[in-house]
Amino acid sequence: MSNVLILLGPPGAGKGTQAVRLSAALSLPHVSTGDLFRENLGKGTALGQRAKGFMDAGQLVPDELVIDMLFDRVSHSDCGAGYLLDGFPRTVAQAVALDARLGATKARAINLVVADSILVGRLTGRWTCKQCGNIHHERTSPPAKRGLCDKCGGQLFQRSDDTVEVASKRLAVYHTQTKPVEDHYGKRGQRFDVDGSQAPDQVFAAMLQWAKQGAH
Ligand code: AP5
Ligand code: MG
Ligand code: ZN
Repeated sequence: MSNVLILLGPPGAGKGTQAVRLSAALSLPHVSTGDLFRENLGKGTALGQRAKGFMDAGQLVPDELVIDMLFDRVSHSDCGAGYLLDGFPRTVAQAVALDARLGATKARAINLVVADSILVGRLTGRWTCKQCGNIHHERTSPPAKRGLCDKCGGQLFQRSDDTVEVASKRLAVYHTQTKPVEDHYGKRGQRFDVDGSQAPDQVFAAMLQWAKQGAH
Protein backbone atom coordinates (compact mmCIF):
# COMPACT_ATOMS: atom_id res chain seq x y z
CA MET A 1 0.00 0.00 0.00
CA SER A 2 1.38 3.42 -0.83
CA ASN A 3 1.74 6.47 1.35
CA VAL A 4 -0.32 9.41 0.07
CA LEU A 5 -0.19 12.60 2.12
CA ILE A 6 -2.26 15.69 1.35
CA LEU A 7 -1.48 19.25 2.43
CA LEU A 8 -4.63 21.30 2.93
CA GLY A 9 -4.94 24.96 3.86
CA PRO A 10 -5.71 28.39 2.41
CA PRO A 11 -3.46 30.26 -0.03
CA GLY A 12 -0.38 31.39 1.87
CA ALA A 13 -0.83 28.85 4.69
CA GLY A 14 2.63 27.40 4.00
CA LYS A 15 1.79 24.30 1.92
CA GLY A 16 4.65 24.83 -0.53
CA THR A 17 7.12 25.87 2.18
CA GLN A 18 6.45 22.75 4.21
CA ALA A 19 6.08 20.43 1.21
CA VAL A 20 9.69 21.09 0.16
CA ARG A 21 10.87 20.03 3.63
CA LEU A 22 8.49 17.09 4.10
CA SER A 23 9.25 15.73 0.67
CA ALA A 24 12.95 15.53 1.58
CA ALA A 25 12.33 14.15 5.08
CA LEU A 26 9.90 11.44 3.96
CA SER A 27 11.41 10.72 0.53
CA LEU A 28 8.07 11.36 -1.17
CA PRO A 29 7.80 13.30 -4.45
CA HIS A 30 6.23 16.76 -4.04
CA VAL A 31 3.29 17.09 -6.43
CA SER A 32 1.81 20.61 -6.58
CA THR A 33 -1.04 21.23 -9.03
CA GLY A 34 -0.29 24.98 -8.97
CA ASP A 35 3.35 24.28 -9.91
CA LEU A 36 2.23 21.86 -12.65
CA PHE A 37 0.00 24.56 -14.19
CA ARG A 38 2.83 27.12 -13.96
CA GLU A 39 5.21 24.65 -15.65
CA ASN A 40 2.66 24.10 -18.42
CA LEU A 41 2.28 27.82 -18.84
CA GLY A 42 6.06 28.27 -19.01
CA LYS A 43 6.24 25.66 -21.77
CA GLY A 44 3.33 27.25 -23.65
CA THR A 45 1.13 24.12 -23.66
CA ALA A 46 -2.60 24.25 -24.46
CA LEU A 47 -3.34 23.17 -20.88
CA GLY A 48 -1.25 26.05 -19.50
CA GLN A 49 -3.07 28.51 -21.76
CA ARG A 50 -6.47 27.24 -20.61
CA ALA A 51 -5.50 27.39 -16.93
CA LYS A 52 -4.00 30.89 -17.13
CA GLY A 53 -7.28 32.82 -17.27
CA PHE A 54 -8.62 31.06 -14.17
CA MET A 55 -5.38 31.49 -12.23
CA ASP A 56 -5.05 35.19 -13.11
CA ALA A 57 -8.61 35.72 -11.89
CA GLY A 58 -8.00 33.83 -8.63
CA GLN A 59 -10.52 31.17 -9.58
CA LEU A 60 -10.16 27.41 -9.56
CA VAL A 61 -9.28 25.66 -12.80
CA PRO A 62 -12.19 23.32 -13.80
CA ASP A 63 -12.07 19.93 -12.08
CA GLU A 64 -11.69 17.80 -15.21
CA LEU A 65 -8.53 19.66 -16.32
CA VAL A 66 -6.96 19.40 -12.84
CA ILE A 67 -7.87 15.75 -12.27
CA ASP A 68 -6.55 14.56 -15.65
CA MET A 69 -3.27 16.46 -15.18
CA LEU A 70 -2.80 15.21 -11.61
CA PHE A 71 -3.59 11.57 -12.37
CA ASP A 72 -1.17 11.66 -15.28
CA ARG A 73 1.57 13.01 -12.99
CA VAL A 74 1.04 10.47 -10.19
CA SER A 75 1.09 7.58 -12.66
CA HIS A 76 4.85 8.18 -13.16
CA SER A 77 7.12 5.59 -11.57
CA ASP A 78 8.54 7.98 -8.93
CA CYS A 79 5.07 8.06 -7.30
CA GLY A 80 4.80 4.26 -7.00
CA ALA A 81 5.47 4.15 -3.24
CA GLY A 82 3.47 7.29 -2.51
CA TYR A 83 3.51 11.06 -2.95
CA LEU A 84 2.86 14.36 -1.23
CA LEU A 85 -0.01 16.40 -2.66
CA ASP A 86 0.11 20.21 -2.40
CA GLY A 87 -2.97 22.10 -3.63
CA PHE A 88 -5.04 19.02 -4.51
CA PRO A 89 -7.82 18.14 -3.80
CA ARG A 90 -9.38 21.58 -3.70
CA THR A 91 -13.02 20.67 -4.31
CA VAL A 92 -15.10 17.80 -2.94
CA ALA A 93 -15.39 16.44 -6.51
CA GLN A 94 -11.57 16.26 -6.69
CA ALA A 95 -11.46 14.46 -3.31
CA VAL A 96 -14.05 11.93 -4.47
CA ALA A 97 -12.08 11.31 -7.69
CA LEU A 98 -8.91 10.74 -5.64
CA ASP A 99 -10.73 8.29 -3.34
CA ALA A 100 -11.90 6.32 -6.37
CA ARG A 101 -8.38 6.19 -7.80
CA LEU A 102 -6.69 5.20 -4.55
CA GLY A 103 -9.15 2.46 -3.64
CA ALA A 104 -7.90 0.73 -0.52
CA THR A 105 -5.05 3.21 0.00
CA LYS A 106 -6.04 5.70 2.65
CA ALA A 107 -4.81 9.20 1.92
CA ARG A 108 -4.16 11.28 5.04
CA ALA A 109 -4.50 15.04 5.18
CA ILE A 110 -2.50 17.64 7.10
CA ASN A 111 -4.48 20.86 7.39
CA LEU A 112 -2.58 24.12 7.95
CA VAL A 113 -4.79 26.48 9.94
CA VAL A 114 -3.98 30.20 9.54
CA ALA A 115 -6.21 33.25 10.10
CA ASP A 116 -7.22 35.21 6.99
CA SER A 117 -5.81 38.43 8.46
CA ILE A 118 -2.18 37.32 7.95
CA LEU A 119 -2.49 35.46 4.65
CA VAL A 120 -2.56 38.33 2.15
CA GLY A 121 0.63 39.81 3.66
CA ARG A 122 2.34 36.44 3.32
CA LEU A 123 1.37 36.18 -0.36
CA THR A 124 2.27 39.69 -1.46
CA GLY A 125 5.75 39.33 0.14
CA ARG A 126 6.52 35.89 -1.30
CA TRP A 127 9.57 35.25 -3.50
CA THR A 128 9.95 31.77 -5.03
CA CYS A 129 13.09 30.20 -6.52
CA LYS A 130 12.82 29.49 -10.27
CA GLN A 131 15.34 26.69 -10.00
CA CYS A 132 14.49 24.65 -6.88
CA GLY A 133 11.08 25.92 -5.68
CA ASN A 134 12.43 27.12 -2.33
CA ILE A 135 10.19 29.85 -0.89
CA HIS A 136 11.28 33.10 0.77
CA HIS A 137 9.38 36.04 2.22
CA GLU A 138 10.75 39.56 1.98
CA ARG A 139 10.18 40.22 5.69
CA THR A 140 9.84 36.90 7.55
CA SER A 141 12.45 34.84 5.65
CA PRO A 142 14.44 37.20 3.41
CA PRO A 143 17.24 35.75 1.26
CA ALA A 144 20.80 36.57 2.32
CA LYS A 145 21.44 38.04 -1.16
CA ARG A 146 18.59 40.08 -2.64
CA GLY A 147 16.83 38.27 -5.50
CA LEU A 148 18.77 35.01 -5.04
CA CYS A 149 17.73 31.74 -3.40
CA ASP A 150 19.55 30.84 -0.17
CA LYS A 151 19.42 27.15 -1.00
CA CYS A 152 20.71 27.01 -4.57
CA GLY A 153 21.58 30.58 -5.64
CA GLY A 154 18.82 30.50 -8.29
CA GLN A 155 16.79 33.57 -9.27
CA LEU A 156 13.75 34.46 -7.17
CA PHE A 157 10.49 35.59 -8.79
CA GLN A 158 7.13 36.95 -7.62
CA ARG A 159 4.00 35.10 -8.81
CA SER A 160 1.63 37.14 -10.99
CA ASP A 161 -1.35 36.04 -8.83
CA ASP A 162 0.23 37.40 -5.63
CA THR A 163 -1.30 40.87 -5.89
CA VAL A 164 -3.63 42.07 -3.11
CA GLU A 165 -6.64 41.79 -5.45
CA VAL A 166 -6.05 38.27 -6.76
CA ALA A 167 -4.86 36.93 -3.38
CA SER A 168 -8.07 38.21 -1.73
CA LYS A 169 -10.15 36.53 -4.43
CA ARG A 170 -8.25 33.24 -3.94
CA LEU A 171 -8.99 33.44 -0.23
CA ALA A 172 -12.71 33.92 -0.87
CA VAL A 173 -12.72 30.98 -3.30
CA TYR A 174 -10.96 28.86 -0.69
CA HIS A 175 -13.73 29.52 1.84
CA THR A 176 -16.57 28.61 -0.51
CA GLN A 177 -15.06 25.74 -2.53
CA THR A 178 -12.15 24.22 -0.62
CA LYS A 179 -13.19 24.43 3.04
CA PRO A 180 -15.67 21.51 2.60
CA VAL A 181 -12.72 19.28 1.62
CA GLU A 182 -11.48 19.54 5.23
CA ASP A 183 -14.68 17.83 6.45
CA HIS A 184 -14.32 15.15 3.78
CA TYR A 185 -11.17 13.92 5.56
CA GLY A 186 -12.07 15.06 9.09
CA LYS A 187 -15.23 13.01 9.35
CA ARG A 188 -13.26 9.87 8.51
CA GLY A 189 -10.55 10.63 11.08
CA GLN A 190 -7.97 11.19 8.33
CA ARG A 191 -7.18 14.84 9.05
CA PHE A 192 -4.57 16.42 11.34
CA ASP A 193 -4.86 20.17 12.06
CA VAL A 194 -1.65 22.15 12.61
CA ASP A 195 -1.42 25.77 13.76
CA GLY A 196 0.23 27.27 10.66
CA SER A 197 0.81 30.65 12.31
CA GLN A 198 3.72 29.22 14.30
CA ALA A 199 7.29 29.62 13.03
CA PRO A 200 8.06 27.35 10.02
CA ASP A 201 10.35 25.07 12.09
CA GLN A 202 7.63 24.43 14.67
CA VAL A 203 5.02 23.78 11.97
CA PHE A 204 7.40 21.34 10.30
CA ALA A 205 8.18 19.45 13.52
CA ALA A 206 4.48 18.92 14.29
CA MET A 207 3.72 17.76 10.75
CA LEU A 208 6.66 15.39 10.56
CA GLN A 209 5.85 13.74 13.87
CA TRP A 210 2.28 13.06 12.80
CA ALA A 211 3.24 11.92 9.29
CA LYS A 212 5.74 9.40 10.66
CA GLN A 213 3.37 8.02 13.31
CA GLY A 214 0.76 6.99 10.79
CA ALA A 215 3.02 5.87 7.94
CA HIS A 216 2.07 2.52 6.47
P1 AP5 B 1 -1.39 27.23 -5.83
O1 AP5 B 1 -0.09 27.45 -6.46
O2 AP5 B 1 -1.66 25.95 -5.16
O3 AP5 B 1 -1.67 28.43 -4.81
P2 AP5 B 1 -2.48 28.51 -3.40
O4 AP5 B 1 -3.27 27.40 -2.95
O5 AP5 B 1 -3.20 29.80 -3.55
O6 AP5 B 1 -1.38 28.43 -2.38
P3 AP5 B 1 -0.08 29.22 -2.32
O7 AP5 B 1 0.96 28.57 -3.18
O8 AP5 B 1 -0.38 30.66 -2.63
O9 AP5 B 1 0.26 29.15 -0.77
P4 AP5 B 1 1.08 28.07 0.06
O10 AP5 B 1 0.16 27.48 1.06
O11 AP5 B 1 1.83 27.13 -0.83
O12 AP5 B 1 2.07 29.05 0.84
P5 AP5 B 1 3.68 29.19 0.77
O13 AP5 B 1 4.32 28.01 1.41
O14 AP5 B 1 4.13 29.57 -0.60
O15 AP5 B 1 -2.54 27.47 -6.89
C1 AP5 B 1 -2.53 28.58 -7.77
C2 AP5 B 1 -3.73 28.54 -8.69
O16 AP5 B 1 -3.69 27.36 -9.50
C3 AP5 B 1 -5.10 28.49 -8.00
O17 AP5 B 1 -5.56 29.78 -7.64
C4 AP5 B 1 -5.96 27.83 -9.09
O18 AP5 B 1 -6.32 28.76 -10.08
C5 AP5 B 1 -5.00 26.82 -9.69
N1 AP5 B 1 -5.08 25.49 -9.04
C6 AP5 B 1 -4.08 24.84 -8.39
N2 AP5 B 1 -4.50 23.66 -7.90
C7 AP5 B 1 -5.81 23.56 -8.25
C8 AP5 B 1 -6.81 22.57 -8.01
N3 AP5 B 1 -6.55 21.45 -7.32
N4 AP5 B 1 -8.06 22.80 -8.49
C9 AP5 B 1 -8.35 23.91 -9.20
N5 AP5 B 1 -7.45 24.89 -9.45
C10 AP5 B 1 -6.19 24.72 -8.98
O19 AP5 B 1 3.89 30.44 1.76
C11 AP5 B 1 3.40 31.74 1.43
C12 AP5 B 1 4.35 32.81 2.02
O20 AP5 B 1 4.27 32.72 3.45
C13 AP5 B 1 5.83 32.62 1.65
O21 AP5 B 1 6.41 33.87 1.39
C14 AP5 B 1 6.45 31.95 2.89
O22 AP5 B 1 7.80 32.33 3.07
C15 AP5 B 1 5.57 32.51 4.01
N6 AP5 B 1 5.40 31.54 5.12
C16 AP5 B 1 5.15 30.20 5.01
N7 AP5 B 1 5.04 29.64 6.21
C17 AP5 B 1 5.21 30.65 7.14
C18 AP5 B 1 5.20 30.70 8.56
N8 AP5 B 1 4.99 29.58 9.29
N9 AP5 B 1 5.40 31.89 9.16
C19 AP5 B 1 5.61 33.03 8.42
N10 AP5 B 1 5.64 33.04 7.06
C20 AP5 B 1 5.44 31.86 6.43
MG1 MG C 1 1.99 26.86 -2.91
ZN1 ZN D 1 16.65 27.60 -5.13
